[in-house]
Amino acid sequence: MQAPRRRRRLALTGVAVGALAAGGLTFASANQALAEEGCQVDYNVVSSWGGGFQANVVITAGEAINGWEVEWDFPSGTSVSSAWNVDWNVSGGHFTGGDVGWNSTIASGQSKEVFGFIGSGSSATPGEFSVNGDVCGEVTEPPTSEDPTDDPTDDPGNPGDKVDNPYTGANVYVNPQWSANAAAEPGGDAVANEPTGVWLDRTSAIYGNDSPTTGSMGLEDHLDHAIENGYDLIQIVIYNLPGRDCAALASNGELAAGEIDAYKNDYIDPIVEIQGQAKYADLKIVNVIEIDSLPNLVTNVSPRETATANCDTMKNNGNYVDGVSYAVAELGALSNTYNYIDAGHHGWIGWGDVNPQYDNFNASAALFGSLIGENGMTADDVHGFISNTANYSALEEPYWEVDQNVGGQALNQNANLPWVDWNDFNNEKDFTQAMREELIANGFNEDIGMLIDTSRNGWGGDYRPTGTSTSTDPVTFVDESRIDQRFQKGNWCNQAGAGLGERPQADPEAWIDAYVWIKPPGESDGSSELIDNDEGKGFDEMCDPDYQGNIRNGNNPSGARDNMPISGHWSSEQFQELLENAYPPVN
Ligand code: BGC
Repeated sequence: MQAPRRRRRLALTGVAVGALAAGGLTFASANQALAEEGCQVDYNVVSSWGGGFQANVVITAGEAINGWEVEWDFPSGTSVSSAWNVDWNVSGGHFTGGDVGWNSTIASGQSKEVFGFIGSGSSATPGEFSVNGDVCGEVTEPPTSEDPTDDPTDDPGNPGDKVDNPYTGANVYVNPQWSANAAAEPGGDAVANEPTGVWLDRTSAIYGNDSPTTGSMGLEDHLDHAIENGYDLIQIVIYNLPGRDCAALASNGELAAGEIDAYKNDYIDPIVEIQGQAKYADLKIVNVIEIDSLPNLVTNVSPRETATANCDTMKNNGNYVDGVSYAVAELGALSNTYNYIDAGHHGWIGWGDVNPQYDNFNASAALFGSLIGENGMTADDVHGFISNTANYSALEEPYWEVDQNVGGQALNQNANLPWVDWNDFNNEKDFTQAMREELIANGFNEDIGMLIDTSRNGWGGDYRPTGTSTSTDPVTFVDESRIDQRFQKGNWCNQAGAGLGERPQADPEAWIDAYVWIKPPGESDGSSELIDNDEGKGFDEMCDPDYQGNIRNGNNPSGARDNMPISGHWSSEQFQELLENAYPPVN
């Protein structure tokens, strides 16, 4: 088990400083030399288990690097079993890893998580690292001048100064309230120091309320806590639209369909005022904007059979479009904020050109694009989009392709294959990459990045397949090969059998800024039966384990867990199952 830690990257990691100290330089001159030409390698062991471990490697460059090769000697008996984003080799315990092209550049002073690997043997940090033949020490910032405008760290900046990927090298905020809930569970220590989203799920959450999960800390408390503890990025969820969650009842919120003024004046404006305070200028604030809102105006409105009366209302009154564009424009105008708009997930929006009547994919991207210009929102106000927030869709399906030919026909062309059902995708990686391109085609900037919520899409545990099915029957083939164990992709509430997914990490793929845990694992999606509450939460049958479904999930069983509290409240049982079924595994 990993020692509890507060600082996610730098403080936890082994930094090899020995070689330079041994070089006999005085401390001051060493620092000066390093500012010019140093390198630093952080070896972050993110999980370990009997005989194995996962480590992610961060390189900090003194001078800008274009093409890197990192080397170290493993402790005796240690080796690599698999690795990603690196061209690697181990010989006689000596590791050599080179960039794979797209991750070759690291700017001067930048810390970049460049690759990861699964190791076997000891997870102890190697004693010495070198990059491009130079032994690394610690990179220190160049001396700062008295004039704050010369110093990027003190410069209050303007919105144009935002970095490309705010997660690169960032020490991401661990919400102490979620962390305490996780740490109190058996085995929970292993993940209790992962960063999770801070949800402002009603107006009182801005100031702190007595909810068992959001607790007494308000937005300013979280931001202050982040600064005091040396974090440099915090993830805030903006989630309080009028008529919220129009196709479901479990997270209906406090604002009625018409209360757009209250949303703007009492909810967004105070958040903007707090986030914009000068004391937070150096804290990167990621705002995840309004989960499960806009795509509902594509998929769950008339004349589709999936329409709900509430989604028709929200389409007709324009308040989702008004609210989201207002939030994005107002928050985007601050210099320290990074807006990522929720873009659903492949199991909802992944249907594309097959039948224009059911095109969710292009139509959603077009709807997002239509927000540009509303309420003064510009493309520059949008840093990127997030998929799979609070959902369970797999990051990748390792054992099958969606267009693979089985039994004489491509799987995504087979009318009798309920799991695929003509969807263009079977995983979030392919979906986010394609969606990103479609969003750019609809007016967003070419450098937008994607986030994927991997908090509960691990699908490990006993039922995880270990290889591709040999069946020639398409239905059997897919059911035996797929890791996502849901009855149907439209199932979204407290899915039994799910596990924690990839641990939060920066830069996992060229187009993905980070894997994040926005939905705090262990917090319910909705109650299994109606529970009275003062949070505006309703009861949705999709959270009842006995419910046999509706048109939006193809009339399949809900797959939900039993005995669950209202959405956002803690469930020990669910947390423990997520831990048990984690993939990669947690130990
Ligand atoms: C709930 C919120 C909660 C969030 C995170 C949502 O489903 O409606 O109240 O803060 O999940 O758990």
